Amino acid sequence: MHSAITIKNLTKHYKKVQALNNVSLDIQPGKITGLVGPNGAGKSTLIKSLVGALQPTAGDVKVLDLDPIKQRWSLRKKLGYMPQEPALYTDLSARENVAFYARLHRVADSRQHAAKLLSELDLGGRLNSPVNDLSGGMQKRVSLACALVHNPQLLILDEPTAALDPILKRLLWNKFREFTSQGKTLIISTHLMDEAMLCDSVVLLQLGQVVAYGAPRELVTSGQAVLRYHKQGQEYTENIRSEGNALAAVLHKHGLSQDISQLEIEAENLEDVMVKILNKQDKKNQ
Ligand SMILES: Nc1ncnc2c1ncn2[C@@H]1O[C@H](COP(=O)(O)OP(=O)(O)O)[C@@H](O)[C@H]1O
Ligand SMILES: [Mg+2]
Repeated sequence: MHSAITIKNLTKHYKKVQALNNVSLDIQPGKITGLVGPNGAGKSTLIKSLVGALQPTAGDVKVLDLDPIKQRWSLRKKLGYMPQEPALYTDLSARENVAFYARLHRVADSRQHAAKLLSELDLGGRLNSPVNDLSGGMQKRVSLACALVHNPQLLILDEPTAALDPILKRLLWNKFREFTSQGKTLIISTHLMDEAMLCDSVVLLQLGQVVAYGAPRELVTSGQAVLRYHKQGQEYTENIRSEGNALAAVLHKHGLSQDISQLEIEAENLEDVMVKILNKQDKKNQ
């Protein structure tokens, strides 16, 4: 399938800091791709290179077949971008902010459209509140509505759910799935592993380099699990891979005899697997 985004040997230096170090990636359309990694890993820098907000030091980036710097204006029509720090007019209302972006994109009935988008993000009751009076999580949702205003084909969100409660997070994830079910592409950065698990693919970044890329479930099954069982009053443990067939092999061996009174599996989750990859990489860099 034709990629939505191709990145080749992308490098970005901010004076002495190398924020991105020779990153190459292909991102599939119609999917949710998570950019994951610790603070300072380069997630925001990568995102800014995709939306044309900064000039790379070296390398080549194509977003929807366009050059984000040279073809910035063509790209903006197809791209929605929500920065990590909301870029809103804080003395204007939520609705006025969204309507402003709607007018920039020449969307008809900008005020009604703004109200509809904000209501869908559970802000229907705060349309006329100045952004200054809204909580951090509410401001993020206003910023998301601004990014969605022109019905973009590609949406890039920098830590969109960092300040949201679980109910709102679920609401947004339902929206994200609805978005990609229409064949559109979503890129989302997060440092939250429960969210990374919801993505179709995750890119793990560390010190500006891609250190893992794959479906989160596949990354998890590359991890370890501990099987703990009680046999005739004694506890035993066994290390297995966290894959269904590894467990089946153990069960075949033991046959789940009546002697076994208790059986538990503690599998590594995505966070454990990611932390292991990051630590291994750290050692290599030392
Ligand atoms: N404008 C800037 N000037 C200097 N250094 C920066 C700037 N922006 C980011 N950096 C540095 O680049 C690295 C990557 O930052 P960033 O892309 O913001 O990471 P993340 O979003 O993963 O937390 C960090 O070391 C950060 O301090
Ligand atoms: Mg960031």
